[in-house]
Amino acid sequence: MAPVPDREPPVPRAVGVEVVRPLRAEVLRPGRPSDASVLPFDEDPRARHLAVVIDGRVVSVGSLLPEAPPWDPALTDAWRIRGMATVAEERGRGHGGHVLAALLELATQAGGRLVWCNARTAARPFYERAGFTATGEVFLAEGVEHIAMWRELTTPAG
Ligand SMILES: CC(C)(COP(=O)(O)OP(=O)(O)OC[C@H]1O[C@@H](n2cnc3c(N)ncnc32)[C@H](O)[C@@H]1OP(=O)(O)O)[C@@H](O)C(=O)NCCC(=O)NCCS
Repeated sequence: MAPVPDREPPVPRAVGVEVVRPLRAEVLRPGRPSDASVLPFDEDPRARHLAVVIDGRVVSVGSLLPEAPPWDPALTDAWRIRGMATVAEERGRGHGGHVLAALLELATQAGGRLVWCNARTAARPFYERAGFTATGEVFLAEGVEHIAMWRELTTPAG
């Protein structure tokens, strides 16, 4: 059973890429050089980086990068979710879900029509809960099983 949050989770806020990289490195690239947490399109002016900060500590991060999916490289207005990470002791409290929802909202506002990611298979239910569908075969990246996932975005009302 998920732990009962003892407080309302803080709203994810827009931050610079330098704010998200340390937690990315700690959770997703442990033991690797710090530049392993630098991603293509990170510095693109259209990229968006979000963080949940509690008492000055970054506890959850995620990024939205302009990138077409590998199965349809010509697709414009597609966005990729990368670098989703929550510190171990804060998982299951909704922070990652809030970050993901806020990234989807930003993609929608930007006129995006499709969002995709290469999800760790362990995190597949997390993305399914947000409306993502898996596609293709499971593959290994950095020795970890992944699967591509995607979802459409609905045009904002008005
Ligand atoms: C994926 C991740 C960012 C989710 O962050 P979070 O703050 O725990 O997210 P939420 O609290 O909103 O949602 C957690 C839910 O997602 C599921 N989930 C997420 N990641 C999971 C994982 N690695 N293994 C199993 N379940 C996972 C759980 O089922 C959990 O459900 P519950 O609330 O019913 O227990 C976090 O688990 C994490 O950092 N994992 C390690 C790194 C990782 O796998 N990143 C994703 C790369 S694609």
